[in-house]
Amino acid sequence: MKTRILFVCLGNICRSPAAEGILKAMVEDKGLQDDFHIDSAGIGSWHVGDLPDSRMRRHGALRGYDFSSRARQVTSADFSRFDLIIVMDDENYYDIKRFSTHPADMMKVHRINEYFIRYQGRPDVPDPYYGGDSDFKLALDLLEDACQGIINNVMTK
Ligand code: 4NP
Repeated sequence: MKTRILFVCLGNICRSPAAEGILKAMVEDKGLQDDFHIDSAGIGSWHVGDLPDSRMRRHGALRGYDFSSRARQVTSADFSRFDLIIVMDDENYYDIKRFSTHPADMMKVHRINEYFIRYQGRPDVPDPYYGGDSDFKLALDLLEDACQGIINNVMTK
């Protein structure tokens, strides 16, 4: 059975579409695409339908990724459509609660720092939206590390 993973951030144009693109690329690289269904969504609706932020697309392309998913907002149905919902920071964790309709829903929600390997001890993937190049690079470093941790975690279950 596929493990269905949803990445969630605030706008669904920087961190979570990058996480989606990175995990998809890593999974394909390892020939594991039949074991995963991967998507992303945002807490807010401001950017629904948009491509990822051009800065994130550019930094992703420099590492060989094509981030081209369209932004959408989280829905209550996502709690039944996905096995694992991975949020980028504490604010996302608290915000996503208002989309949950069953007490068990939040058991599917995990903070991305649970999957860090080299970056173990860091609290989150900080929002790069109001930052510069170094913030986008750091977000990608953290997301690449976490995606490797997610694959390790899923494949050893
Ligand atoms: P993201 O970054 O949550 O990583 O997609 C943001 C993108 C847009 C906004 C905030 C964060 N915004 O306020 O529009």
